[in-house]
Amino acid sequence: MKLWEGRFEAPTAENADLFNDSLPFDCRLWAVDIAASIAHAAMLGSCGIISADESKAIRDGLNAIADDIAAGKLAMEGAEDIHSFVENELVKRIGDAGKKLHTARSRNDQVATDFRLYARGAFDCLTESLAWLVESLTDRAKAGLKLIMPGYTHLRKAQPMCAGHFFNAYAEMFLRDMDRVRASRDRANVMPLGSGALAGTSYPIDRDMTCDLLEFDRPCENSLDGVSDRDFAAEFLFDCSMIMSHLSRLCEDIILYSTEEFGYFEISDEYSTGSSIMPQKKNPDIPELMRGKTGRVYGHLMALLTTIKAIPLAYDKDLQEDKEGFFDAEKQTINSINIMAELLPAIALNKERMASAAEAEFCCATDVADYLARKNVPFRTAHGVTGRIVRWCIENGRTLQDMTAEEYRAFAPEFGDDICDAVRAAACAGARTSYGGASPERVRENLKSIKKRLKKYLQ
Ligand code: ARG
Repeated sequence: MKLWEGRFEAPTAENADLFNDSLPFDCRLWAVDIAASIAHAAMLGSCGIISADESKAIRDGLNAIADDIAAGKLAMEGAEDIHSFVENELVKRIGDAGKKLHTARSRNDQVATDFRLYARGAFDCLTESLAWLVESLTDRAKAGLKLIMPGYTHLRKAQPMCAGHFFNAYAEMFLRDMDRVRASRDRANVMPLGSGALAGTSYPIDRDMTCDLLEFDRPCENSLDGVSDRDFAAEFLFDCSMIMSHLSRLCEDIILYSTEEFGYFEISDEYSTGSSIMPQKKNPDIPELMRGKTGRVYGHLMALLTTIKAIPLAYDKDLQEDKEGFFDAEKQTINSINIMAELLPAIALNKERMASAAEAEFCCATDVADYLARKNVPFRTAHGVTGRIVRWCIENGRTLQDMTAEEYRAFAPEFGDDICDAVRAAACAGARTSYGGASPERVRENLKSIKKRLKKYLQ
């Protein structure tokens, strides 16, 4: 039964229904839809808009429907959307009292309220998964405190660093995501219920009461905005997109570092896949697929931004398009975060390979220049001298670590015997003691601070 069929002489065409109906996907809102209706019915009863008995019958009926859906005993079908489905079912069960549920309410404020309630839960799930991921990263950072690896710029070896710095960098990104998700959730937690179709209602409703019952921070202050605002959904999709962006970078680094060419990481068999033709292959399908899913989540953000662009006030049916992308982004992002949290402990770190790579390709050259600069050679001059040393090494098949102090002195008299120790990767990483730098002590400090910031979310 359509909620609005009174005005119509003919039923809608079958294909028009198929095109119009949202029940196949908004059935996911059943629990929040029923929760919001229970609050609305309680408020109608308490304000004397319906009788106390009617209010109770409605709430009992709705609770029974919720139990049946949860138990898998009630198939959600045969209605235009979840709101119609629940109302039809209620009327079937309790008769005329059920027909009073929609007093002082429209599906416009109803769906906006349901969706915010749903989004609130989705934001909380993101936070919970992100906390797990950050914890997983801090475990790896801890293991990396004693290891040295090369850091990169332009994907060329740049400077040695304590390996924990790498994992902490990602933990910082995901902590930032957690802060963003928390702020978005706070902004989303405003209640549209009571906005009616667009202009409020002439019934003496109590919006503060429904607001308290549904644990919103406040009722929205403008009913036109209330029924049409989907900023919270766009923010959710942006937050998911940013998380996927961070994940895609981590995936890319894991994929690169686990190649034969780099060999820093080895992904365990449990999280690797093989090739149907090349027997030797161990492929990083999990991080590759995750990197690929990033595009799909960005797509959902662009789709919603485009849908809400230029729609006139207030509710327009375009807004029904707000849900499917949201649900998919939610699923893909949460799955990706969780699988990454599982994958990280399944990565073995190849200490020797990382340490030797941190001395190869002149990764310690900055430290040669810094050595001279500390002896009062102007940095630009020191940079030039070091460049010539590097060129000499390349031409003569030598490294910064196998040069003797005498050979260094042939380029500049300021080199002392201690230059040979100063160009070891561990010494170079250890020297980067500036606040936020890559020395083991600074990385340990950073790790401590990350754990402290994470703890705020765990209680
Ligand atoms: N299924 C609709 C949606 O998701 C519910 C609101 C319908 N309101 C209306 N005026 N047709 O947006």
